[in-house]
Amino acid sequence: MKNAALQKSIESFLPTAHINRLSHILQGRNVRAGYARASALQCNAIHPFIANDPLYIESRALMQHRELLTESRLMNLFLILKYGGLDGDIIEFGAYRGGSAVFLANVARGLGLSTTVYALDTFEGMPPSESTLDFHHANDFANVSFQELLEYKEKCGLTNLVFVKGLFEETAHPLLEKSKKIILAHIDCDLYEGTRYAIDVTLPHLHPGGGYLVFDDALQSTCLGALQAVEEMIQEHHLRAEQSFPHLVYRYPPAK
Ligand SMILES: C[S@@+](CC[C@H](N)C(=O)[O-])C[C@H]1O[C@@H](n2cnc3c(N)ncnc32)[C@H](O)[C@@H]1O
Repeated sequence: MKNAALQKSIESFLPTAHINRLSHILQGRNVRAGYARASALQCNAIHPFIANDPLYIESRALMQHRELLTESRLMNLFLILKYGGLDGDIIEFGAYRGGSAVFLANVARGLGLSTTVYALDTFEGMPPSESTLDFHHANDFANVSFQELLEYKEKCGLTNLVFVKGLFEETAHPLLEKSKKIILAHIDCDLYEGTRYAIDVTLPHLHPGGGYLVFDDALQSTCLGALQAVEEMIQEHHLRAEQSFPHLVYRYPPAK
């Protein structure tokens, strides 16, 4: 299928007018946009078209199977960046071997966005977790070489990707103070403390056009701590989900 026809097929699933208009965001969500993306992904209808998109193919190949994300989650991130109508920076909490960060950076670059992707992790494994709540333990995900990751980023020529080593609690705040407004926070750290901190530190920096908060893990059977942090965010900020499939998506600030 020719590229123009491909784009037309993808867009036939998406009411872009709803996606791009701030006035459609109520209590932190644009219901129509969320339904459009989620329903097309859940029944696999849009998959063959996105899977043939040249930018998606290129970005997917660059991940080299480093990522832990499902195909539907990658496709949803692709749709959010391509049709979300926002430009600014991206922050990822939990980068591990850099798979999802490389994907996001290549998609943003290919779309011509001015985005820098900040990918945060200890790159030495999980910090100590809350034993009464979290499933994962200290040092899970420790099989990473930070040096190899930096070399791979150079090889890919991704000058818009910055790997930030250390605990979120030590690195995120100063970074967000100097970043552009955040169009997407991809929160994928599996633990209560990290997820709670990621939400609190990011909310004031989200793009005024309704930045996207995407929780990769909060609906995973092994991430009740992350889910609890999201539940607290809902209670404190009165947000409503824009998507519950293939991951939880919220918008902030709510326009009304
Ligand atoms: C599931 S992995 C991320 C997977 C990655 N997004 C991907 O799909 O390729 C979770 C990561 O969160 C990191 N992490 C958890 N809590 C953290 C914290 N407070 N500070 C820094 N890194 C943290 C762990 O080191 C781990 O690498």
